[in-house]
Amino acid sequence: MSQGPRSGLAAVSTALLAMSRHLEVRDVLKTIVASARELLDAQYAALGVPDDHGGFAQFVVDGVSEEQWRAIGPLPRQHGILAAMLHEARPERLADVRKDPRFEGWPSAHPDMSDFLGLPIRDGDEVIGALFLANKLRPAGGDPADPPCPGPEGSCGFTEDDEELLSILAQHAAIALTNARLYERSRELTIAEERSRLAHELHDAVSQKLFSLRLTAQAAAALVDRDPARAKGELHQVAVLAAEAADELRAAVVELRPAALDEDGLVATLRTHIQVLDRAHTARVTFAGHGVRVLPAAQEEAMLRVAQEALHNALRHSGAQHVDVTLERSGGGAVLRVTDDGSGFDPKGIRRAGRHLGLVSMRDRASGVGGALTVESAPGKGTTIELEVPGG
Ligand SMILES: Nc1ncnc2c1ncn2[C@@H]1O[C@H](COP(=O)(O)OP(=O)(O)OP(=O)(O)O)[C@@H](O)[C@H]1O
Ligand SMILES: [Mg+2]
Repeated sequence: MSQGPRSGLAAVSTALLAMSRHLEVRDVLKTIVASARELLDAQYAALGVPDDHGGFAQFVVDGVSEEQWRAIGPLPRQHGILAAMLHEARPERLADVRKDPRFEGWPSAHPDMSDFLGLPIRDGDEVIGALFLANKLRPAGGDPADPPCPGPEGSCGFTEDDEELLSILAQHAAIALTNARLYERSRELTIAEERSRLAHELHDAVSQKLFSLRLTAQAAAALVDRDPARAKGELHQVAVLAAEAADELRAAVVELRPAALDEDGLVATLRTHIQVLDRAHTARVTFAGHGVRVLPAAQEEAMLRVAQEALHNALRHSGAQHVDVTLERSGGGAVLRVTDDGSGFDPKGIRRAGRHLGLVSMRDRASGVGGALTVESAPGKGTTIELEVPGG
């Protein structure tokens, strides 16, 4: 820093502001390194974030060109003076790094360095990185117009003031790094949530439409020689189901609710869906809806999705002859029941983890709208899935 106390302070302040402006860890690291090099008039600056395997998870340099960086080869390991800085969490200020007993040499393309200043970056007791500079180019407090120090062989040397300034930067670097990591972590969580939402949506809506589509196509194939007219009807149904699957897919991706709910309402949407299933399966599938008022959109959507999954499970797993769906008013809200006379199962025996998404997804949908889901089933006893939602 060579322009007097006031502009020096402004330069430090600019550097600190720049550090905290970035949200991505790598951008934060780059800003720290560039600021440190500029503020302390160093030829080279670097920052390494150690990993747990004796290497560096991240290593950022400033003052080295892209080609030079490539020529140097693989990232350094934690050895020599770097390791001492990380493990002993102590500053290192050396007049000539090459003369230090811990110096272990450089790769051939590594730039030559003499004077060296390095500081650990600490978050509490933990060392989260090392920030270091080499080859001071101008004497401390000198005028920018002064001739520069002549490089490695006659370097100016880092001073105690430099060390103090770098330690301020290192402290702020710790904060900026920690914040950036928290930000990245929270973004990863958001992405994971979004992925799980999409998985549920695709499972609930799209995979079931495709399942019905497959069955209808099989029916058409079976009919085509015997009864071409009916086969034609089934093929028409295939086209309808394919179009619906495409709509569901689009809705899942842009998080729209099923268009049919807006256009026709819950009762009509359920009725149509159930008619299609009744036609496509050997089991008799019925629907009865009584006096249900319009519900808040999210609750209607939960009702539809739970009905779809419960129906899908009944038709796929239970071997039922009959599957009955009822929708009734209950206080200000409504109750949906899907009952089958199939094999039944032990609900406690189903692991939450693993490939079974349906029951988990139904529970998530219920709790997402303040509703309650009940699964009543036992081997040999058939199954009833009930969803009650509170209404508006
Ligand atoms: N109505 C039912 N009758 C008989 N068994 C059922 C019924 N519903 C669910 N099951 C049993 O519970 C298991 C878990 O159901 P769930 O819907 O969670 O997963 P899945 O249907 O196997 O797979 P996914 O729904 O993810 O495609 C099923 O594999 C099946 O053994
Ligand atoms: Mg299922």
